[in-house]
Amino acid sequence: MILHLPNLTLRPFLPADVESLARHANNRRVWQNLRDGFPHPYTEDDARRWISHAAGLPDPQSIFAIVIDEVLVGGIGVHRLDKDPVYRDTAELGYWLAEPYWGRGLMTQAVKAMTGYAFDELGLFRLEAGVFGWNVSSARVLEKAGYSFEGRLRKQVYKDGQRLDVLLYSRLRTDEVE
Ligand SMILES: CC(C)(COP(=O)(O)OP(=O)(O)OC[C@H]1O[C@@H](n2cnc3c(N)ncnc32)[C@H](O)[C@@H]1OP(=O)(O)O)[C@@H](O)C(=O)NCCC(=O)NCCS
Repeated sequence: MILHLPNLTLRPFLPADVESLARHANNRRVWQNLRDGFPHPYTEDDARRWISHAAGLPDPQSIFAIVIDEVLVGGIGVHRLDKDPVYRDTAELGYWLAEPYWGRGLMTQAVKAMTGYAFDELGLFRLEAGVFGWNVSSARVLEKAGYSFEGRLRKQVYKDGQRLDVLLYSRLRTDEVE
């Protein structure tokens, strides 16, 4: 599946993305805002592992490369939480963008599109995202994309030597968003 947005494209990860994925993901300022499953330093082997993981996921596609001018500059996806059936149709949203592209409204565009896709094509009902307390811009992206702030999970994570609060945001399929 390919989603063409005004300033970027969301498409599947491809083997040819290894170099650009490793180059852009290998950034401490990106890593600082993600769980430790996102490696740092981020090598071409890490990129290969991720791309083959993405290729092995079941259809319909749940993770996308963010592409500008045919070069991978980030990633976005949803991860279903339904290992336990009580979390049926609930998923976590995750995303990152290469630092040179920050502050141009690109992730807001990507999150809005991914959210629509997740509700309409994946049949999800609830999307949630946990933002580390210091990540003001990600919280803002979620607000602009119609997500609601649900609460502050006090000192839920330990990242880069600090215990941090997590800001929990969610959007439901039934939410009315302008
Ligand atoms: C967070 C991230 C996705 C934002 O992407 P982006 O494309 O720069 O976001 P946008 O440009 O769409 O929106 C950013 C918003 O944050 C605002 N912002 C940025 N820094 C800010 C600050 N220090 N204080 C207040 N607002 C800030 C911007 O002004 C903009 O809001 P506006 O449109 O109302 O002015 C990107 O920085 C990133 O990938 N960071 C590393 C990984 C990450 O944090 N992933 C998310 C984990 S929850």
